Amino acid sequence: MDFAFNEEQLMIQDVARRIAQEKIGPSAEHHDRTGEFPLENIRLLGENGLMGIEVPAEYGGAGMDPIAYVLAMIEIAAGDAAHSTIMSVNNSLFCNGILTFGTEEQKQKYVRAIAEGREIGAFALTEPQSGSDATAMRCRAVKQADGSFVVNGKKSWITSGPVARYIVLFAMSEPDKGARGITAFMIDTEKAGFHRGKTEPKLGIRASATCEIEFTDYVVGPEDVLGKEGEGFKIAMGVLDAGRIGIASQAIGIARAAYEATIAYVKERKAFGAPIGTFQMTQAKIADMKCKLDAATLLTLRAAWVKGQGQRFSNQAAIAKLTASEAAMWITHQALQIHGGMGYSKEMPIERYFRDAKITEIYEGTSEIQRLVIARNETGLR
Ligand code: CAA
Repeated sequence: MDFAFNEEQLMIQDVARRIAQEKIGPSAEHHDRTGEFPLENIRLLGENGLMGIEVPAEYGGAGMDPIAYVLAMIEIAAGDAAHSTIMSVNNSLFCNGILTFGTEEQKQKYVRAIAEGREIGAFALTEPQSGSDATAMRCRAVKQADGSFVVNGKKSWITSGPVARYIVLFAMSEPDKGARGITAFMIDTEKAGFHRGKTEPKLGIRASATCEIEFTDYVVGPEDVLGKEGEGFKIAMGVLDAGRIGIASQAIGIARAAYEATIAYVKERKAFGAPIGTFQMTQAKIADMKCKLDAATLLTLRAAWVKGQGQRFSNQAAIAKLTASEAAMWITHQALQIHGGMGYSKEMPIERYFRDAKITEIYEGTSEIQRLVIARNETGLR
């Protein structure tokens, strides 16, 4: 493993940092306050290759590796977490699965539109009664004599659901087979039978739009089955492995922003006649914040590196996501404490970092699910 980044990785990191500093950061407070979806900025990210970083150029992407994706995600998340949520769903949850399991036609049609930033993608696994226990889904896809499927059911907590043109959907096609009865489908939200339900008002990542979606007799042609019938759960799990590297990167970006703001603040804020950074209690917090931030970053780069080697990376991704999301929550908590009243006030972005960090411990597999995945991998026990 080489700790030096190559030219391509540094280039995308630089592009992402520039957009984050010039466009995303300055409008983050507005998007958080209003919840307005940042469509213009998302298009800009697409135009700069940031919506399909690992997508080969022949399908409209930047053709880079998973480490480049981590570096870019960290920069965008440091500018604004909500933007990085939208970016991560497009990159990891939408494009990844189609690139691995899709047909040539599916890649040309769906991946290209998202990677170029012309459309927005979403991933529909969760239902009102099934989150962590994903195989308990009730959304049904019934096969017809002509090979098409008729889909009926509800999905909830769909990130980018209110604006997505295309969705990767998981539905039960053979309920008696459990996990092996789930099939993945490509959904066009402009077709009959697709409906959007209530949007979710959220604690953080408020500009990332989230809603329920519903299918009533929605017809999917055989050309829009993703992968093989019954392979849907494995596709979802494989896609989430990659997604977890993205969320770990997002957590690092949020934590880094909180950490950097704290370093500036402890040098400038005085109490008892000295900068608060000279007090040992503050110094201990700073040291622990830095250790957690670096540990999370290295573990996330390791997961990305293993993915780039073409090896199974489920365990490394779960370790990275668990460590980074808990580090982000802890670091933003300490940052808020060090900032005192200023941290609690909306005059500074610290309280936003604190609110945004929380989701990283929940979506794409809670911390409890990451611990389950890690323990199963380590012991081989179920
Ligand atoms: N890659 C490939 N295959 C995998 C896999 C992986 N990472 N993990 C499991 N599988 C396979 C297993 O090998 C097994 O295959 P066989 O049937 O051939 O043996 C099959 O899938 C079933 O696996 P399990 O028996 O382990 O399944 P389980 O019911 O015990 O569930 C779980 C395992 C880890 C709890 C899983 O359900 C899980 O990860 N749950 C969390 C779901 C999640 O992350 N939801 C997030 C929602 S999406 C989201 O948040 C998106 C957003 O909006 C941002």
